[in-house]
Amino acid sequence: MKPYQSVFRDETKLDINYVPYKLPHRDRELRLLTEFFSFALQSPEKMAQRVMITGDVGTGKTVLSQRFGADITREASKRGINLRYVHVNCREYRGSLFLILQHAVSVFHPNFPRRGYSAEELLRILVQMLDEENVHVILTLDEFGSLVEKEGSEAVYKLTRLQETRQNKPQRFSLICVLRNLKEIERLDASTRSTLQTNIISLEKYSRQQLIDILNDRVSLAFNPSTVTEDTIDLTAELAFSENGNARFGIELLWRAGKYTDADELGTVSPECVRKAVSSIVPAMRKTDLASLNFHEKLLALGTARLFKESQKSQVSLAEAEQAYAVVCEEFNVQPHSHTQLWKYLQTLSAVGIIETEVSTVAPRGRSTLIRLPRIPARELERELCALLEKQGA
Ligand SMILES: Nc1ncnc2c1ncn2[C@@H]1O[C@H](COP(=O)(O)OP(=O)(O)OP(=O)(O)O)[C@@H](O)[C@H]1O
Ligand SMILES: [Mg+2]
Repeated sequence: MKPYQSVFRDETKLDINYVPYKLPHRDRELRLLTEFFSFALQSPEKMAQRVMITGDVGTGKTVLSQRFGADITREASKRGINLRYVHVNCREYRGSLFLILQHAVSVFHPNFPRRGYSAEELLRILVQMLDEENVHVILTLDEFGSLVEKEGSEAVYKLTRLQETRQNKPQRFSLICVLRNLKEIERLDASTRSTLQTNIISLEKYSRQQLIDILNDRVSLAFNPSTVTEDTIDLTAELAFSENGNARFGIELLWRAGKYTDADELGTVSPECVRKAVSSIVPAMRKTDLASLNFHEKLLALGTARLFKESQKSQVSLAEAEQAYAVVCEEFNVQPHSHTQLWKYLQTLSAVGIIETEVSTVAPRGRSTLIRLPRIPARELERELCALLEKQGA
């Protein structure tokens, strides 16, 4: 027998710290960022730039700035320009200016003594080091809100106004501040805020289709060919979309789904594996919700669960669900209810969060209702429903 081959080609490509070369649907923002820093590839000593990147969770703020940092330093070194990119997550340093600067200094002098200096002194020392080495630094303060929260206006003021106390000297410091929402800097005083807010790049939430593109790209890097189906990607994108367009959620789900696939030696990552992955993250099925369904709602849910268990699709039509329901009715020896009633049952199933429905207008015969089972593994749903129906019948 052939040994089982993992679906993964390189799972590190799904790691949260991996920075892909291509960022689908962020080209425009990447170009804009590069544009803001075009001076740094010519005469970085002449200017100091400040840019703010905002956007909701998982919209690619961190990865965009890191991609930019890697690209621009590579380009600078080709041109013989001393440019460094330093990315600091302020939250990791508890929002403390002192710890953030200590880290920045250690990038240039790893053995610099950790004690004995104030934040202000560290800032001065850092600039001195940059002067000595004739380097311009683009410092990204990721999760910037945490610095604002801890240190308030003064620290930010020190960073942004650094240059003004060094009239006619080379500029050493540019800043990229990354935050989810401009509300996080509301407590800064007006003048500090205005020095930051001149160049804002705001990242919009990803659409379903954009998430599909991002996931497809990642799948081709991380998985072996043809191990992840189109329906799997479609379902994962849908779930990431309903989690606020969070690409991270989608990528993590794919990784987990791959792990479940390998654990069961299935060879193909199916929508069912994604449902298993999502139910391990969010406990979606509350048994009391299932128990509260009436008899025919349970029969419809059972038919639908079986449909998904047998197919590898991410969605089925109402007509298919109706057929599956009719088969279940036969099994339970009851007369199926009418189409109109079924439609109502479907609304209940959707209201308690078991399924999701969508009216499609692109189907060949006009409007049709599509059903998804995004969160609950079909097998688990079937098992629970059978147990409940058995109890009810007894
Ligand atoms: N356009 C994209 N192309 C490829 N991967 C992307 C893209 N956007 C986001 N990602 C990936 O999605 C995940 C989340 O992105 P990132 O960490 O940059 O989000 P964020 O906006 O910084 O979120 P948070 O506010 O939670 O810090 C990362 O794994 C990142 O590589
Ligand atoms: Mg981030």
